[in-house]
Amino acid sequence: MKHLKLLALTLTAVSLVAQSSRSRPETGAAELEKAVLKPGEIWPDDRGLHVQAHGGGIIKLGDTFYWFGEDRSQGLDRAKRYVSCYSSKDLAHWNFRNRVIQLADPENFGPGWVLERPKVFHNAKTKKFVMYMHIDGRTAEGSYKIARVGVAISDTVDGDYQYLRSFRPLGHESRDIGQFIDDDGAAYLIFEDRPFGFRIARLSDDYLSVEKEMSLIPAHMEGGAIVHYQGLYYVIGSALTGWAPNPNKYATAPSLEGPWSEFRDIAPPETKTYGSQSTMLVKIVGTKKTTVIFMGDIWRPGTQWDSRYLWMPLEIGDGKLWLPEPKPWTLDLTTGEAVPQ
Ligand code: GAL
Repeated sequence: MKHLKLLALTLTAVSLVAQSSRSRPETGAAELEKAVLKPGEIWPDDRGLHVQAHGGGIIKLGDTFYWFGEDRSQGLDRAKRYVSCYSSKDLAHWNFRNRVIQLADPENFGPGWVLERPKVFHNAKTKKFVMYMHIDGRTAEGSYKIARVGVAISDTVDGDYQYLRSFRPLGHESRDIGQFIDDDGAAYLIFEDRPFGFRIARLSDDYLSVEKEMSLIPAHMEGGAIVHYQGLYYVIGSALTGWAPNPNKYATAPSLEGPWSEFRDIAPPETKTYGSQSTMLVKIVGTKKTTVIFMGDIWRPGTQWDSRYLWMPLEIGDGKLWLPEPKPWTLDLTTGEAVPQ
């Protein structure tokens, strides 16, 4: 009897251990915890640390998503700027891969130089990974006056990216940048040219430069993102209010060259996009449904390491786009269906 009790106790202990190791699953494990996305909450990575990928961008290689963004962890070298890379198979469990950029001021931009909104493109021809980022800093005229893009390159998705250079795309000012990869694989940059508006431009064959302007949308917006959904292009962006949230808006066009519609609200304007700012639109094509996810940042300018993420499936179609009130939800990557929890 005593032996039986001991055995039962041992078995319970073993199963508790098994459960706790399941609570931090490796991606791809058969028994993934339910993949619930919780807008606005702390998103712990596989190390238990809040994901540091602010103002980010996402690419998918095979069945794996890679998320790059500003790493604003506490305690980093204040003279350097950092970009981190995470991977996931379900968009909910994120594994930290590498701090792919740990860069000291590369071109004498000066103290307070800025590296924001990194986006990585995978070039199938050259097999290189090319990162674009907003490079800026203070000049005699004030802050954020350099207005360039920086380019860095790596042989592997989560390798140490080598900074190559910075420039003004097609000669224009460029602040917030967004990335868009069309269904045919063509890669585009959306950049904010302060005097004029949003520009959408195609990258060169090797992705190392910006080659051809598709559109200038004369709206003073930033945080630009695009999705191609059921034959229409939808562009979203925010107003120019710095870290403070504002009512984000969208417009549509039959082609990247336009003509673009008027901009309309994506959410009740009084919610200021539920406190978030657009950074990316990701399209998930499933067997039953295509879901488009709005990815936004909830900035906390005084404590940037604690900035949060607001990701929600959009109501989209027939030229309309709407961000529902944020709630926890799950995504079925096979069917493409998003289910509120
Ligand atoms: C926001 C922009 C951020 C950052 C911030 C600085 O409008 O989207 O990426 O540049 O301004 O105030």
